[in-house]
Amino acid sequence: MEQYNFTYNDIHNTIRTSAEKIKASGFEPDYLLAIGGGGLIPARIMRTYINKPILIVSLSRYSDETGTAPSETPVKLQWLETDTNLDGKKVLVIDEVDDERTTLQFTLNHLYDTHPETEFAAFVVHNKLKEKKGTLPERLSHFFTGEDIHDYWINYAWDAENIDQFGKK
Ligand code: G4P
Ligand code: MG
Repeated sequence: MEQYNFTYNDIHNTIRTSAEKIKASGFEPDYLLAIGGGGLIPARIMRTYINKPILIVSLSRYSDETGTAPSETPVKLQWLETDTNLDGKKVLVIDEVDDERTTLQFTLNHLYDTHPETEFAAFVVHNKLKEKKGTLPERLSHFFTGEDIHDYWINYAWDAENIDQFGKK
């Protein structure tokens, strides 16, 4: 099966050009919001170009505390503090990949539930062109993708056990 290897530099460069597109769109976020764990490093790189504070939410794909019962839909593992007032603010939600769209659908729907007075946009570094299981909320302000790619498995530099050999044949 074909795969992609995206090095740290590939990812950083994709985010740099994406930040330019986001700025050109007129969407000016007050906050970046990383979806852990995949969105953490992309959000930090984005902050180099769009210098706003980073918020974090985290999901679990397991429905029990021992982490062994796979769940059909994700569950919230960590969310925003209820005293984080985002009313009237613009928030750019960031993840590394949009695959089946389960994560984005779940996260965005819950963010609109908990923060109805906030404008959300989403950015993913890689969007797999495929039939998606999830849908994006209609009120999503913008959906930015760094690269639209084939439905191949992606190896990310941060998953490498041996970073010096990463991407080398
Ligand atoms: P979604 O992100 O569109 O919801 O995709 P889906 O539910 O299908 O993905 C399940 C998990 O698999 C996600 O990790 C996603 O990041 C990861 N994934 C999907 N495609 C790829 C790929 O090509 N390469 C890699 N390395 N990962 C992929 P997660 O459950 O959100 O875990 P976390 O790493 O964010 O904690
Ligand atoms: Mg993830």
